[in-house]
Amino acid sequence: MEFSVKSGSPEKQRSACIVVGVYEPRRLSGIAEQLDKISEGYISNLLRRGDLEGKPGQMLLLHHVPNVLSERVLLVGCGKERELDERQYKQIIAKTINTLNETGSMEAVCFLTELHVKGRDTYWKVRQAVETTKNSLYSFDALKTRKGETRRPLRKLVFNVPTRRELPVGERAIDHGVAVSDGMHLCRDVANMPPNICNPAYLASQARQMAETYDTLTVTTIGEEQMEQLGMHTYLAVGRGSANESIMTVMEYKGAEDQSAKPIVLVGKGLTFDSGGISLKPGEAMDEMKYDMGGAAGVIGAMKSICEMNLPVNVVAVLAGCENMPSGNSYRPGDILTTMSGQTVEVLNTDAEGRLVLCDVLTYVERFDPELVIDTATLTGACVIALGKHASGLFSSHNPLAHEILNAGEQSGDRAWRMPLWDEYQDLLDSPFADMTNLGGRPAGSITAACFLSRFTKKYNWAHIDVAGSAWNSGANKGSTGRPVPILTQFVLNRAGVEQGE
Ligand code: BES
Ligand code: MN
Ligand code: ZN
Repeated sequence: MEFSVKSGSPEKQRSACIVVGVYEPRRLSGIAEQLDKISEGYISNLLRRGDLEGKPGQMLLLHHVPNVLSERVLLVGCGKERELDERQYKQIIAKTINTLNETGSMEAVCFLTELHVKGRDTYWKVRQAVETTKNSLYSFDALKTRKGETRRPLRKLVFNVPTRRELPVGERAIDHGVAVSDGMHLCRDVANMPPNICNPAYLASQARQMAETYDTLTVTTIGEEQMEQLGMHTYLAVGRGSANESIMTVMEYKGAEDQSAKPIVLVGKGLTFDSGGISLKPGEAMDEMKYDMGGAAGVIGAMKSICEMNLPVNVVAVLAGCENMPSGNSYRPGDILTTMSGQTVEVLNTDAEGRLVLCDVLTYVERFDPELVIDTATLTGACVIALGKHASGLFSSHNPLAHEILNAGEQSGDRAWRMPLWDEYQDLLDSPFADMTNLGGRPAGSITAACFLSRFTKKYNWAHIDVAGSAWNSGANKGSTGRPVPILTQFVLNRAGVEQGE
């Protein structure tokens, strides 16, 4: 898919299709009005006859509109002008892309980026249009013997911006949008891959493959033998029941001018399958626990975006690859383990495994002398109960960092909502036998999980993003969403001080 920006009037475009908006009720957008004028009222006549009301997502495809050079004009309902918000804008773009893809137009000039969206500039509109387009065209058919092919797929899309002055901003928005969606694409591919293929070694191989493309990136892996030497006993315990070796993948990206500048550290939970272990999960929807590596998939995706944009920062990413299975070797409820930090943990439920893997990684990353650490994980079912699928859960004891991440979520459209991390909740982790248990009980389940992690992050500024609800869709359109790639990438983009909109 090829994207470009242009600034011009609709009647002068010679394209397979031009896309223009119509508001409700039957009101032409400025661009549609220009077309109407040169076609001597052709479009307003159609509206008057009732062919298109302008309701959001309504589509009307016209051929050979008089005096218009393009073969087709696609009129797109945009709803009431005053009500056009971000969500509706993205829905309209998605619907448009699907229509274009089915109508045989292999290229199109799209004027929807000139619509007025409350509080958003050209940079945002173009970037979101690119991301929405690439995400709508995504499908995961690597393992289908018959691939779903479109006969004449959309290949080239030109977004129009109102003035020539905005062309550079538009081009930047395309670059960033492409980089973010390429990262999301990788995230989705890796996450959708079944657990018999996507195991900890697969995560490592995906990272290594990336390092071959970008010379700013180096990848090393740490297997069970080295984890033993490092004292990562809780990480090891979780993987002990699995025939697949636990592998921690470390990706080091050096983009800053000062190669020794403190890195941003990203950590992703990479449970390539979470059966629950001895505390076995119920059978219903257990297949979806292949997505328990959604944090790691998000982190590897974000690294792809960062490499693609060549951002001037240093970033270290760690994929915590592991599989939680029941077997004669499995760790058990009642076990007391010593973490890499030296703190001891009484295991009360082997299904609360994510925190046990992550706590050792959070200790491990101290050696990078991090500027800050963000971990992301499909950590708790409780987070899904609290926030559903639309917001990721954000936890941080460092207020400025929390606000920075919330902002990155707002900017990128991959939103998070902050949850408390008060000391009062810490008591729920008390154990009679060890320094803590791995189980806080049913109330505030996502908070006690974050509290557990916080005990291993005293040496740096830290935030935790629970993506249990946002990383994948269940039901009819089951699949990875590509989140949290946008929020992570946006955070790093902001930190890198890269110019974006005006
Ligand atoms: N990976 C799960 C969390 C999860 C469950 C994410 C459902 C998305 C959907 C995690 O390892 C887990 O099993 N958590 C337990 C913790 C409990 C035993 C304290 C949970 O949430 O039930
Ligand atoms: Mn679990
Ligand atoms: Zn899990």
